[in-house]
Amino acid sequence: MHEVTIDNVSYAYGSHQVLRDITLTAEAGDFICLLGPSGCGKSTLLRLLAGLSLPTSGSITLDGAAISGPGLDRGVVFQDYSLFPWMTAGQNIVLALEQAFPGKSRGEYREAAVGYLELVGLGGASEKLPGQMSGGMRQRAAIARAFAINSPVLLMDEPFGALDAITRAKLQDLLLQLWQQKEGERKTVFFVTHDVEEAILLANRIVVLGLNPGTIKGVFEVDLPRPRIRQELYLRDSFLGLRDRLVTLLHENILSELDEGRIVRSEGDSI
Ligand SMILES: Nc1ncnc2c1ncn2[C@@H]1O[C@H](COP(=O)(O)OP(=O)(O)OP(=O)(O)O)[C@@H](O)[C@H]1O
Ligand SMILES: [Mg+2]
Repeated sequence: MHEVTIDNVSYAYGSHQVLRDITLTAEAGDFICLLGPSGCGKSTLLRLLAGLSLPTSGSITLDGAAISGPGLDRGVVFQDYSLFPWMTAGQNIVLALEQAFPGKSRGEYREAAVGYLELVGLGGASEKLPGQMSGGMRQRAAIARAFAINSPVLLMDEPFGALDAITRAKLQDLLLQLWQQKEGERKTVFFVTHDVEEAILLANRIVVLGLNPGTIKGVFEVDLPRPRIRQELYLRDSFLGLRDRLVTLLHENILSELDEGRIVRSEGDSI
């Protein structure tokens, strides 16, 4: 079991109400993608799931136990996720492995760390410090680190947002491959993205959040067969139909904000 229950959760930064009445259950092995306009509270919700902040009201539980802080049962890859800058990519992963699986030899940790780096195409970068790597490489190392601890829950905040299209596609496939491996051992994933097609490719369920305050605007089941092959998916009517519905809902969100004067359209803006 790795069931995550978000029950009537609200969150405010001081007087700024960001999330309101979010209720959502992720069953064990669910792959949930969160979509929504910038500032609607997606990262905030992930921080709550990670235990980095606590809800202002409502509760979040993992297999019935309240989430009260960070834990090795939840691997995180965040938008601004940084590795420890004084450690090489390899050392960062060794440290995570030591914490998650104590009692192994130094050599075993090193070997495993290189294996995870190879998985994300960084086999040769194990000795590099984060400062010596590109943004995309750092992000891939952070993903390798999350995979390495093999936690039952994965929290990913736009993990592929800064990557080039080819690396992004490779990592999407890798993530799906890792997630699909064994049906009974699937990780429960919360994945934030701005990319509607990425959400459909990956998710079981897509949750669209609105803005001011962040409430759930819609929940969409994605019942496209797996494994999902990108080229085949793009030809399916059900894919195209869902993409249209999601894009429309996201635009409605933005347009209603414009109508209410919350977003000021500046000259040259195109929405
Ligand atoms: N530490 C903070 N203190 C005060 N306000 C914050 C803080 N972090 C975020 N906010 C505000 O909370 C709201 C939601 O922010 P959040 O980062 O969760 O949005 P998001 O949906 O992840 O946006 P994006 O798509 O741009 O990443 C924003 O209005 C933001 O300004
Ligand atoms: Mg964010």
